[in-house]
Amino acid sequence: MNGTVELIIDGQTLKLPTYVGTEGEVGIDIGTLRSKTGAITLDPAYGNTGACKSAITFIDGEKGILQYRGYDIAELAVRSTFIETAYLLIYGELPTKDQLDEFSQLLSQNQMLHADMRFHFDAFPPSAHPMSILSAMIHASSSYPSPVTHGKPAREVFPFHAARLISQVRTIATSSYRKAHGLPPSYPRSHLNYTENFLHMMFSLPGEEYVPNPEIVRALDLIFLLHADHEQNCSTSTVRMVASSQANVFASASAGVCALWGPLHGGANQAVLEMLEEIHLEGDDGTKFLNAVKNKDGNRRLMGFGHRVYKNFDPRAVIIKEQCDKVLGQLHKSDPLLDIAKKLEEIALHDDYFVSRKLYPNVDFYSGIIMRAIGIPMDMFTVMFAIGRMPGWVANYKEVMDDTDSRISRPRQIYTGEKLRQYTALSDRA
Ligand code: ACO
Repeated sequence: MNGTVELIIDGQTLKLPTYVGTEGEVGIDIGTLRSKTGAITLDPAYGNTGACKSAITFIDGEKGILQYRGYDIAELAVRSTFIETAYLLIYGELPTKDQLDEFSQLLSQNQMLHADMRFHFDAFPPSAHPMSILSAMIHASSSYPSPVTHGKPAREVFPFHAARLISQVRTIATSSYRKAHGLPPSYPRSHLNYTENFLHMMFSLPGEEYVPNPEIVRALDLIFLLHADHEQNCSTSTVRMVASSQANVFASASAGVCALWGPLHGGANQAVLEMLEEIHLEGDDGTKFLNAVKNKDGNRRLMGFGHRVYKNFDPRAVIIKEQCDKVLGQLHKSDPLLDIAKKLEEIALHDDYFVSRKLYPNVDFYSGIIMRAIGIPMDMFTVMFAIGRMPGWVANYKEVMDDTDSRISRPRQIYTGEKLRQYTALSDRA
């Protein structure tokens, strides 16, 4: 507690404590509001509500700052790797060489799915969306406890479960891709790192040695790292909500995948590419489309633009845009959709509709173009986001579990329905 504010409600003055975070953010603790005054706060979509204290990620949306455990995202993007960053997010510090080796080893030991899980894969229709497969398979995975963890207390098995989730989200994603494309299963290779193994499990062909392109590995690893956490977004707060009931980490992560799927959240990366393809097919350079967005024709939005928190720029989008140019250059590919995306950005950044609403490109605006260049199908884009976000979900789950003051999350509401009325017999209803 750092201070107090006074709230005057119906002539009564209530003193409320305030908390100031390490970066100067101020929160008013309204914990006694209802018991002292009978009133609650009303904040649909939680734009002004801090649901927890957290030491994992800091964002200053006005200044375009994103830090994981105090490290700037731009520095991590250049100097770290996805797996090192995953460790940092979950355990709070950059790992020593030994800790990183041990963590990587645990990931390798936990990368294989239980063999019986193939029956679950077989039961999905070929048209199943990879995100529905992913959430179902992560949830199903809690039904297959490993002999190492079976019957042991949650706290003791946490490192194994964390490793299983981070490792197996990749195995589930690539297995669903191979099944959808009629390819035989492909298993991880011990000499490949996390991201190399992802590419190997996706694209290797029987009888051929798969050699991952280092530039593609770097670009993909960076995409995973940039998505690794983002404080209390829709999916992470869902994970924390589920965790607050003391549900297991698989159930909580699976709920996170479901929340991520929507086009206003992680599903935006697929929606951006669909939008760019549509503009391209219509022969538009983006101008007609932007006019429709501004006139709110059919409630269209410029997908990949806007953010609840960033009101200046999304630092991840700046890094991804640079990477996008690099990858396409290195692969000697050009993509008309990249030209359309750049044109849309250029117009929007100078257009009063977008400027006055503080709408800027977010992380999803350019990530899809890189993934398309790598050969990842569009319906897997949000799965790629989920692979990247898993360490953040796991870190937030751990924070809830470690918090001795944690209580079940249970918001209140303002009721706007009918007042008490009498039941009418079926025969008397009009
Ligand atoms: N295109 C056009 N107009 C937009 C956009 C957009 N992308 N985003 C917001 N607006 C407009 C709204 O129509 C509204 O206009 P109004 O004041 O005239 O009614 C105003 O900007 C405020 O919009 P809200 O929906 O209130 O903003 P909110 O903070 O609730 O939404 C969100 C944020 C969901 C990201 C929104 O900007 C959006 O829908 N963007 C497109 C989808 C997207 O890219 N999502 C990914 C977000 S990042 C992530 O989750 C990884």
